[in-house]
Amino acid sequence: MPAVPDKKELQENPALQAPKRSKPLFSPGTSDGEALVIFVLGGPGSGKGTQCANLVRDYGFKHLSAGDLLREEQDREGSEFGEMIKTYIKEGEIVPMEVTIQLLENAMNSTIEENGNRKFLIDGFPRKMDQALAFEEKVVPSKFTLFFDCPEDAMRERLLNRGKTSGRADDNEESIKKRFRTFVETSMPVVEKFEKESKVVRVDATKGPEEVYQDVRKQFSREGLEAEK
Ligand code: ADP
Ligand code: C5P
Ligand code: MG
Repeated sequence: MPAVPDKKELQENPALQAPKRSKPLFSPGTSDGEALVIFVLGGPGSGKGTQCANLVRDYGFKHLSAGDLLREEQDREGSEFGEMIKTYIKEGEIVPMEVTIQLLENAMNSTIEENGNRKFLIDGFPRKMDQALAFEEKVVPSKFTLFFDCPEDAMRERLLNRGKTSGRADDNEESIKKRFRTFVETSMPVVEKFEKESKVVRVDATKGPEEVYQDVRKQFSREGLEAEK
């Protein structure tokens, strides 16, 4: 386990205020004061980022990848969380939720301010039960979770292949093993919780990217979401 920062210290950090609120920042929807959030989950390498790009193109969603936002914050000059994030990512552990939720909330607010888009795909989040509960309580309840179902062998192969060019510190055998363990032990319980609430849309992610996407489109249509093109 990486060096864990003091929980109280994080909770009291003035840069991390979202977890303190008593009711959600947004109601579900796309009008003023609202936000439409779809969580995108699946193991590392299951194809979340790839399919989100398709959905952005055809449905007009804003794609917010929790992992990308954390890597950006890690590299931001002067970030007080950079070193901590780096350690957690390398070890395949889940960064304390206060940091990730604040990054997501900031990105949602900036998007709404910039172009009024209130439709978000939140990729790779929530990866731990506390993130799921806090986000839905303090930011906005999700519409549903899009879950990419893929066996580890296929994911490992994709990640090692991606690792040849991604430059990511965690696309290597050792980190991949740890990420798989975290996924099974920590993230799958979140999917199971949403499943009990009938809020999971499951897609078989073993086929090629185009076939997977056709399935995603069908499922979105069933949920009442139609493509803009
Ligand atoms: P995630 O965001 O879930 O970690 P990515 O979308 O980054 O996954 O995909 C991981 C790697 O696998 C990338 O190199 C991507 O090009 C490739 N990939 C994505 N979807 C598929 C698929 N359906 N079949 C084969 N390779 C895929
Ligand atoms: O989704 P992605 O594979 O880009 O995530 C990379 C890493 O970022 C994860 O293995 C984890 O260390 C961290 N992360 C996290 N909490 C999230 C999403 C990602 O701690 N909700
Ligand atoms: Mg990704």
